[in-house]
Amino acid sequence: MRIAILSRGPKLYSTRRLKEAAETRGYEARVLNPLSCSIEVAQGSPLLYYKNKKLSPYDAVIPRIGASITFFGTAVLRQFEQMGTFCVNPSHSITVSRDKLRALQVLSRHRIRIPTTLFVRHKSEILPGIARMGGPPVVVKLLEGTQGIGVILADSTKVAEAIIETLAGPAKMSVLLQKFVAESRGRDIRAFVVGNRVVAAMRRTASGDDFRSNIHRGGSAEVVELDEEYQRAAVHAAQIMGLRVAGVDLLEGKNGPVLMEVNSSPGLEGIESATGVDIAGEIISLIEDEVLFPDIDIRQRLTLQSGYGVIEIPVDERSEFCGKTIRDSKLRERDVLVLTIQRESVTIPNPRVDREILAGDVLLCFGKTLTLKGLAPPRRAKTKKRRKAAPNPGADEPGPDA
Ligand SMILES: Nc1ncnc2c1ncn2[C@@H]1O[C@H](COP(=O)(O)OP(=O)(O)O)[C@@H](O)[C@H]1O
Ligand SMILES: [Mg+2]
Repeated sequence: MRIAILSRGPKLYSTRRLKEAAETRGYEARVLNPLSCSIEVAQGSPLLYYKNKKLSPYDAVIPRIGASITFFGTAVLRQFEQMGTFCVNPSHSITVSRDKLRALQVLSRHRIRIPTTLFVRHKSEILPGIARMGGPPVVVKLLEGTQGIGVILADSTKVAEAIIETLAGPAKMSVLLQKFVAESRGRDIRAFVVGNRVVAAMRRTASGDDFRSNIHRGGSAEVVELDEEYQRAAVHAAQIMGLRVAGVDLLEGKNGPVLMEVNSSPGLEGIESATGVDIAGEIISLIEDEVLFPDIDIRQRLTLQSGYGVIEIPVDERSEFCGKTIRDSKLRERDVLVLTIQRESVTIPNPRVDREILAGDVLLCFGKTLTLKGLAPPRRAKTKKRRKAAPNPGADEPGPDA
């Protein structure tokens, strides 16, 4: 197997470890600087050149794309995707995870606790927004910050306003306001997810009176045994973002885990030395397991020509399918296959005909587009009285930010 590590720093700890882990297992591994790639887009033959030579085929790519080159780096990765190479993390997921607002928007539809976050344009929106969050202190952060840079605690509304004015003014940076999770007191959990499992976890504690626990800000790390709830939250968050490898940051809130962010190129050094886990080896094992199953866009492959497609059907108590088995739903008679049932955070693949469909399930179905259209739940009619929108547990989204 030939593995490419897309990284600008061949000497960086994480890059070196990944190369070493691949070579230890007898694979060829090469570090490619994404900035030395050129992307050639032509009908039927997506190509990549590396230092002006045509790149020979790779079986897998491990993207390690720094925040400063997200745009070009993900474009190179997208080209690998077009060429059919297995990419450990898909380009789209990396793009979404890099934007703190976009990532939280996607995550907010799911059963994962996140701190209430505000994104505003006008100064006049700041004060009422902070009041809605329960008043100061609030955290102000840059939309695309990393390593704790651009994360500031504002004790008062005045300070928050001043910070936002400074950042969003002439500097034209986008900023978020976020509820301060005070009980986490400068501590957070980094859960390292590979595949569908937390392979290592550490608790980071901020240095001195800093509230940011980033190692880059002088924080210290200790190994931690995560309970079920924290593990589930971390894996679920990575899955929602579509990341097979992710560093999921969680705060220890008073009611359980509060999701902070999901990093798509998490560093290995801090966590390998704190926990002693061979994370690079875990990533190579994941490639061994998954290289045969590259991401394919089913919709794109099937829908366009054949008249067949896939659809997600959320089931609630009023649904004609609720309480029936798949057999009794008569979907098969209508030439519709149920591929999976999403039940809370569990996916039931290839459900058997005697499997009962429950309220809250989401059925992923394959069939004739016309038939599927008739199965989609009707759009709710507008009512005159505005009721408070109830969260619809069935209405999950099909993928990250789809
Ligand atoms: N809303 C918040 N409440 C409490 N602590 C926070 C909050 N937001 C950030 N922090 C602290 O600041 C650190 C950095 O914030 P984060 O959003 O992860 O930015 P970065 O991408 O720069 O790491 C977090 O690890 C956490 O310790
Ligand atoms: Mg962070």
